[in-house]
Amino acid sequence: MIQARDLTISYDNEVVLNKVAFNINPGDLVFISGKSGSGKSSLLKAIYGALKITDGSLLVNNVEMGKFQKGKIKKLRRSIGVIFQDYQLVEDWSIEKNIAMPLMIGSFNKKVIDTQVNNLLNHIKLAHKAHRLPNELSGGEQQRVGVARALAHSPNLILADEPTGNLDEYSADMVMSLFKSINELGKTVIIVTHKMPQNMNVNFKHFYIEDRGINEVF
Ligand SMILES: Nc1ncnc2c1ncn2[C@@H]1O[C@H](COP(=O)(O)OP(=O)(O)O)[C@@H](O)[C@H]1O
Ligand SMILES: [Mg+2]
Repeated sequence: MIQARDLTISYDNEVVLNKVAFNINPGDLVFISGKSGSGKSSLLKAIYGALKITDGSLLVNNVEMGKFQKGKIKKLRRSIGVIFQDYQLVEDWSIEKNIAMPLMIGSFNKKVIDTQVNNLLNHIKLAHKAHRLPNELSGGEQQRVGVARALAHSPNLILADEPTGNLDEYSADMVMSLFKSINELGKTVIIVTHKMPQNMNVNFKHFYIEDRGINEVF
C-alpha cells in the first residue's frame, strides 16, 4: 500500500528524513513516534501529497509521489482520510454537517450522505449530539467527530497526526479504540504519536524516527 525507498524529505536546506525505506501493507495499523521536530508530520504530509518529496521513491496506492502529478494526487486523496492538527472542525457547522463535509465536496446525493452520517454518528457514539456545534462538545468528543469526518468518504487509508495529543487519558483511550475498530474493518491506519498507547491488544507496527532515519521497533 505504501512503499518508501531511498526516500528523502527536506525543507530548503534542512534534511528531515534521509534515504529511508519502509513498507506498509493493506490492513496494517502503524504507529509513528519520535521526538518533536523529528519529521513525523512531514512524513504524513508527504504520504498525503501535501509536501513534495526531495528524492527517492514514495509509492502510495500505486501513485509515485515523487512525480507529483496534480490530477493523480487529487484522485489518490479520495482514498485517504486525514485527521490533521491544522484541519479543525468548522465552528459554526453542526456536528453532522461537519461529518458530511467530505461527501458534500464529493457531490454525493442527500440520501447517501444522510445514511453515511448516521452510521458514523452511531459508530462514534455521538448520535445524540448530531445537531450540536463543535464548541458544545468536549475535546475528546470533537476529536471523535474529526475521525468520523475522515471516514465519511470511505477511504481505505487513514492518516492521523497526534490525534490524542490534547486529550485526557480517558478520551485518548476512546479515540484509540476507535482507530482500532476502524483497522479491524480492514482499513490501513497510520497514527503519529509522541506517546505510544499501552495495552492495545492488537497487532501493530511501530516506526521510530531518529537522526533522519526510520527504524521499526519490535
Ligand atoms: N513548512 C516548513 N518549513 C521549513 N521547515 C519546516 C516546515 N515544517 C517543518 N519544518 C521543520 O522540519 C522538521 C520536522 O518537522 P515536523 O515534521 O513538523 O516534526 P514533528 O512532527 O516530528 O514534530 C523540524 O525541524 C521543523 O522545524
Ligand atoms: Mg508534528
